[in-house]
Amino acid sequence: MDPITMKLTFSLALTLLAANVLGGCQRATPDKTPGMAARVSQATYGRMPDGVQVDGYTLRNSKGTTMQVITYGAIITSLRTVDAQGEFADIVLGFDSLDGYLHDPPYFGAVVGRYANRIAKGRFTLDGHEYQLPVNNGPNSLHGGTRGFDKVVWQATSFENDSSSGVVLSYTSSDGEMGYPGRLDVRVTYTLTDGNEVVVDYFATTDKATPINLSQHSYFNLAGDAKRDILGHQLRLAASRYTPVDSTLIPTGELASVEGTPFDFRTLTPIGARIGESNQQLTFGIGYDHNFVLDRETSGLSHAAQVVEPESGRVLDIFTDQPGIQFYSGNFLDGTITGKGGRVYQHRYGFCLETQHFPDSPNHAEFPTTILRPGEEYKSRTVFRFGSN
Ligand code: GLA
Repeated sequence: MDPITMKLTFSLALTLLAANVLGGCQRATPDKTPGMAARVSQATYGRMPDGVQVDGYTLRNSKGTTMQVITYGAIITSLRTVDAQGEFADIVLGFDSLDGYLHDPPYFGAVVGRYANRIAKGRFTLDGHEYQLPVNNGPNSLHGGTRGFDKVVWQATSFENDSSSGVVLSYTSSDGEMGYPGRLDVRVTYTLTDGNEVVVDYFATTDKATPINLSQHSYFNLAGDAKRDILGHQLRLAASRYTPVDSTLIPTGELASVEGTPFDFRTLTPIGARIGESNQQLTFGIGYDHNFVLDRETSGLSHAAQVVEPESGRVLDIFTDQPGIQFYSGNFLDGTITGKGGRVYQHRYGFCLETQHFPDSPNHAEFPTTILRPGEEYKSRTVFRFGSN
């Protein structure tokens, strides 16, 4: 284990120990840290067209970082972090109110599932049964279908302790929902720590074998408040291989070397440096929209990605226990969405780094399995750590 991972694992262990010890504290509680406002507050965020209430939770840490999460889609609606000059700004794309999220934005800030990413033709065979999912992305099923986990209202409770606070979101996906087999009980916990980490813990159980692949679909722009495109951000990915795709963005099955290609991000490289090169994979993705195979020595949490925004000095580090990460360079943003504070989200004004299993795994026996069976527990963790240089 490298020193950064070891330090991170240790601080997470402490955080979780504290969370467990204080596990009874399930609601926002009055100020306990001298000089600091309560770490969690809750308010009504809006109402669904059928009247169901959507709540918003605001988490804050001792460093002044704040994060808002809503129960619709388990969406992170804002994340305000500090830059090198000490200025706070919002580094995720989104809207000022529920209405924007209800008009089918491209998964801004949401938890995507039951199967993040694509399943070819929305079809797979499991234990001899063929299943058909709704097709919602060309010929394929994307991010759980027409009404995935990004479009449902989750149940939530909050917690806080001396060094962190968080929200636990739960959702039960019924047997057959969006074509998937089995009742799936899902829990996603967001924890904001005083170490400026957002820890995302996923947990699920099922009563029938089902594919599952959960991910977080935040669009980041580390410049803050989406003031320019993300092409100048520098990216490093711990990936020597990626999964090339066909023209509909389904993996061919090959694990190709990144060596000598625009997909080599093994050292910090501006996202825009090679995005315009003539390359069939970049043409298929209209830029980067590819799953990278993470190089890992152990099965636990390991460093997957680093992003540096040179002007603000903001740095994002991502750690995960997942085998892959989808790097999407915001290619479908085209200026038709107006988000928070009236900002127009132009082409490539945000990027996503979605930790996950490989796309279309249910149709690729050679990929790590995504099948969850009754009696098993789906558990996964991703950590986003924010800093500045
Ligand atoms: C994922 C996909 C992209 C795109 C975005 C949402 O990241 O891989 O192709 O569909 O979601 O627009």
